[in-house]
Amino acid sequence: RNFTIAIDGPAASGKSSTARAVALELGFGYIDSGSIYRCATLLALRSGITDISSHANQLIDLINKSSVDIKFQPSSSRSAPNLITGRLTVPDVRILLNDEDVSDEIRKPDVNRMVAKVASDGGIRAAVMSVQRALAKAAETRSTEMRDKKGAVKSVPGGVVMDGRDIGTTIFPNAELKIYLDASAMARAIRRWDEMNSKLKEEATKAKSLDTSDAAPAAERTPTEYPSVEDIARELEERDYADINRQHSPLRIATDAVVIDNTSMTFEQQVYSIADLARD
Ligand code: CDP
Repeated sequence: RNFTIAIDGPAASGKSSTARAVALELGFGYIDSGSIYRCATLLALRSGITDISSHANQLIDLINKSSVDIKFQPSSSRSAPNLITGRLTVPDVRILLNDEDVSDEIRKPDVNRMVAKVASDGGIRAAVMSVQRALAKAAETRSTEMRDKKGAVKSVPGGVVMDGRDIGTTIFPNAELKIYLDASAMARAIRRWDEMNSKLKEEATKAKSLDTSDAAPAAERTPTEYPSVEDIARELEERDYADINRQHSPLRIATDAVVIDNTSMTFEQQVYSIADLARD
């Protein structure tokens, strides 16, 4: 059977980028389980469902009728720019909802605000769970030769890294390796803020290069809705509170999970420490 690595933790603890770099390092597949909850939230928003508790069945129906695909791009391509950080590459991931690329749309503030509510419904979670398990099964990976700490080569049958809130506790309770990734609330908020800033800068540069009119270049316009670090911290804390206190598979540290607090760790340190645990 495939080797499964479950990475859980609170919002913006770095699960997704860490999981992607670990997956690339080990030659494994990668599933971002949060993106499926985000797709479900987008389906709700697009069909005008605002009161989740009284329209859960309608949303479950929509989820069952939809297809979600996660395109993990281990090799760099022009349309999928991978991020290079130090010696590591963080591969890009594209999320397709009914064949439409919704990767950017599912990270927008209205989805952020609603997703924990969507994820608190037991029936919706069950529908999302079938999508998660099917994707994990389909994440075909090649078997790899890994070197353990002593340098001995052993063959590993391929595997998958999945990140979320309940992967080690509910989705894959028998995962070979479970990680709980944590960081201080402020460190997490600053990271999200940095991410948002680089995205805005990138968009502004793109707009500037397309702008041939005499109007002020897009890059020089002040964005009107610009969340502060405090705004982001508040939003993350509200989401964590909802995730920890919900009735159905709340965010918990699995008893057999390795807890990694990355508040003052470098990205490389945490990626290699997880890859080393998998190789042991
Ligand atoms: O990337 P970020 O940490 O902001 O969140 P995410 O992983 O995209 O997950 C978004 C939301 O989906 C979380 O706040 C949870 O409410 C929900 N979720 C969940 O309940 N169970 C999972 N396995 C993954 C996500």
